[in-house]
Amino acid sequence: MSDSIEHLKAAGLPRHVAIILDGNGRWALQRDLSRAEGHIAGAKAVERLIRFAGRELGLEYLTLFAFSAENWDRPKQEVDALMALLKQFALEKLRELQDAGIRLRIAGDISRLPDDTREAVEYVIAETTNGDGLNLTIALNYGSQQEIIRACQRIVHAVMSGELDKDSVDRTAFVASLYTAGIPDPDLIIRTSGEQRLSNFLLWQAAYAELAFPETLWPDFTPEEFSRILREFQTRDRRFGTVEGE
Ligand code: IPE
Ligand code: IPE
Ligand code: MG
Repeated sequence: MSDSIEHLKAAGLPRHVAIILDGNGRWALQRDLSRAEGHIAGAKAVERLIRFAGRELGLEYLTLFAFSAENWDRPKQEVDALMALLKQFALEKLRELQDAGIRLRIAGDISRLPDDTREAVEYVIAETTNGDGLNLTIALNYGSQQEIIRACQRIVHAVMSGELDKDSVDRTAFVASLYTAGIPDPDLIIRTSGEQRLSNFLLWQAAYAELAFPETLWPDFTPEEFSRILREFQTRDRRFGTVEGE
């Protein structure tokens, strides 16, 4: 393992990094390629980063925003290509994920995915539940506002059915009703491609996340750049509303 990775780990890694993978389309456009080809290149960057975060860095939680609830409004051809790519990724990488001890979770409503893609994803979730290495969450057909409404509905249902006392509706109960139940809030959210917005990603969970907006388009995002961002993160003073560190 290289010295710089040792340094990075010694200085304290964030527990949970979440990434908005953005810029596949622009990457393709710059090369006169189709948007689908941009997503294929994006999938390679995902593979590279998971390998690095899991094996070399030993990160605990990594969440990747791969498809938003609003992305269905893209051209059918692009949506179809993304769904096919997801299925392929799930089936081809299962063995590698298992070997690396990676546990896959999904945040989002996967019931709307095409059957073959949904089944492939469910298969990988089931086959990796015992993974004790990197906790990988893919946000798929995910929208944070939809997630918050769903959590409210689940709580109302639990109260109405007598399962939960109305006076017990607190932050803990709410968090347990989100897709991300059991996963710590992200310490760092990275969005590639220079866009500086969250686009309906982890709005609740981002309460005290540090944010980073590298200009790099997602397919060009490397472990080296990820390490640079982590080093910069380590210099930040996170106060959580207190005066610690003064
Ligand atoms: C991110 O890249 C991947 C998905 C949203 C699926 P984009 O496809 O949004 O790329 P740009 O923003 O058009 O460059
Ligand atoms: C956010 O990117 C969703 C994903 C990366 C999956 P978009 O490219 O869809 O977001 P906007 O439209 O630029 O806000
Ligand atoms: Mg985009």
